[in-house]
Amino acid sequence: GMYGLKRQQRDTAVMGIVGNPVSHSRSPAIHNAALQQLGLNAVYVPLLVDDMARFLATFTDADWIGFSVTIPHKQAALEGAQEVDPVAAQIGAVNTLVREEDGRLKGYNTDWSAAIAAIERGLDPATPSSTDASSSPLAGKTVVVVGAGGAGRALAFGAAVKGAKVVIANRSVQKAADLAAQLDPPASACSLEDLASGAVRGDVLANTTSVGMHPQEDETPVPAAALPGFQLVFDAVYTPLHTRLLKEAATAGCAVVTGETMFVGQAADQFKLFTGKDAPVDLMRTVVLDSLA
Ligand code: ATR
Repeated sequence: GMYGLKRQQRDTAVMGIVGNPVSHSRSPAIHNAALQQLGLNAVYVPLLVDDMARFLATFTDADWIGFSVTIPHKQAALEGAQEVDPVAAQIGAVNTLVREEDGRLKGYNTDWSAAIAAIERGLDPATPSSTDASSSPLAGKTVVVVGAGGAGRALAFGAAVKGAKVVIANRSVQKAADLAAQLDPPASACSLEDLASGAVRGDVLANTTSVGMHPQEDETPVPAAALPGFQLVFDAVYTPLHTRLLKEAATAGCAVVTGETMFVGQAADQFKLFTGKDAPVDLMRTVVLDSLA
């Protein structure tokens, strides 16, 4: 990342988001606002890409600083990177590709670190920006991850890295069990019904499914009766910001963390990887919240 900005003092440095679809992404707005705020000679563009392998081959020799990667290319980005951060490799998904000094692409996953940091701050606002398993407020806590897709994998591996006990609750219990078995130490798996009945309890509940994204359907992945006793509930859904799950969690006396924290955090961590500079997080949050209003 630093390479591009140092080397291209006079030329505009370029980065972008690779996805399909990509036109509705809020990433260009928040990254460009941040670049402008810091006075950096760089732009961030949306890139509609069908074939990730072919795209990466095309851009091998170009002076791009790096790419954000979104659906459906996070796995292909992992395969296309010449070096991969160990946690991203475990998760099996790369959402950030950064060109190293020698031109090689290194893959990272800032989804897990952003979600975990948001939850850590929700538990303890004084949590420093990076923690290990001994200093994290998640250490020793039981984290129930609802969902076993890409976001669920990121949350589950992240919580395990921080020393939490992980339970995966998923509609398909087989998929939950498969993910649970990949964690070290292995997590437990349960059905959404087990969670709904109160048979499964914990300290932190994190929804990573899309249930709740369509407010007219008034859906929640976990019924209100199962929420009391959780210290904190996080929802990765941020359209709307206050999902039925989070409203019912607040009523049940749980602390709540809204999903835009994860979106802003993953972008801020990418910005740091791309530019080497701390992101203007408050500005990025304002841009996202304005776009939701
Ligand atoms: P993402 O990358 O956003 O996590 P994904 O990989 O498609 O998306 O995973 C979607 C997750 O949401 C899965 O855990 C899925 O449950 P299944 O594995 O049983 O399919 C869950 N999910 C999606 N729609 C759901 C619904 N209506 N009710 C319950 N779970 C749902």
